[in-house]
Amino acid sequence: MSSAPAPVLERWLAAVVSTPGLTAIRDPATARTALLDDALRAVELVAATDGPVVDVGSGGGTPGIPLAVALPERSVTLLEAERRKCRFLETWASELPNLSVVWGRAEEQEPARFGVAVAKALAHPPTAAEWCLPLVREGGLVVLWIGESAEPERVAVVAERLGGTLEASPAGLLAIRKTGPTPPGFPRRTGVARKRPLA
Ligand SMILES: C[S@@+](CC[C@H](N)C(=O)[O-])C[C@H]1O[C@@H](n2cnc3c(N)ncnc32)[C@H](O)[C@@H]1O
Repeated sequence: MSSAPAPVLERWLAAVVSTPGLTAIRDPATARTALLDDALRAVELVAATDGPVVDVGSGGGTPGIPLAVALPERSVTLLEAERRKCRFLETWASELPNLSVVWGRAEEQEPARFGVAVAKALAHPPTAAEWCLPLVREGGLVVLWIGESAEPERVAVVAERLGGTLEASPAGLLAIRKTGPTPPGFPRRTGVARKRPLA
């Protein structure tokens, strides 16, 4: 983001950095690049697909909080498995009318509720894809933040099993379109996608 971020984002960044257990980053400039600017790279991708947005494994609130501020007309849910992190996230949901928090695991949520699922540093990309794809409706989109070591061809195998297809996306992001229904048997039981990845 080239201009100054909204004041709520400045306060959120400062709080993430100073709250133990949310991030190892302590330097404000690094936090801005890694937690805010990196999240905002997906604004155009997310904006192009309708429907509510879910940030899976939101942790301290990225990418969901920056996206909620950038897209105030979109409903954004922060889904997070750890209760303690949810308490932190709830303080920001009380400030942003389009933001809400759900304490829970991806594989235990009602399927097809969202238009877009985003996930950054949730799990290895094949596991993250398996967790996220059932959450979006047909026609919806999953956006994963990926590192240089990610293997998109492994994610493509998982996507195909779950009714998804990889789409062209900017470097560092992987976009998966939900082109068909989630097949029977998915989501698999809690923990199985991580223990026995499909690819
Ligand atoms: C490494 S943190 C990343 C947090 C944030 N997205 C970021 O980029 O800073 C991964 C988060 O995902 C949460 N998590 C792991 N598995 C999950 C699942 N199956 N469903 C929901 N949250 C999950 C963890 O509790 C943790 O807070």
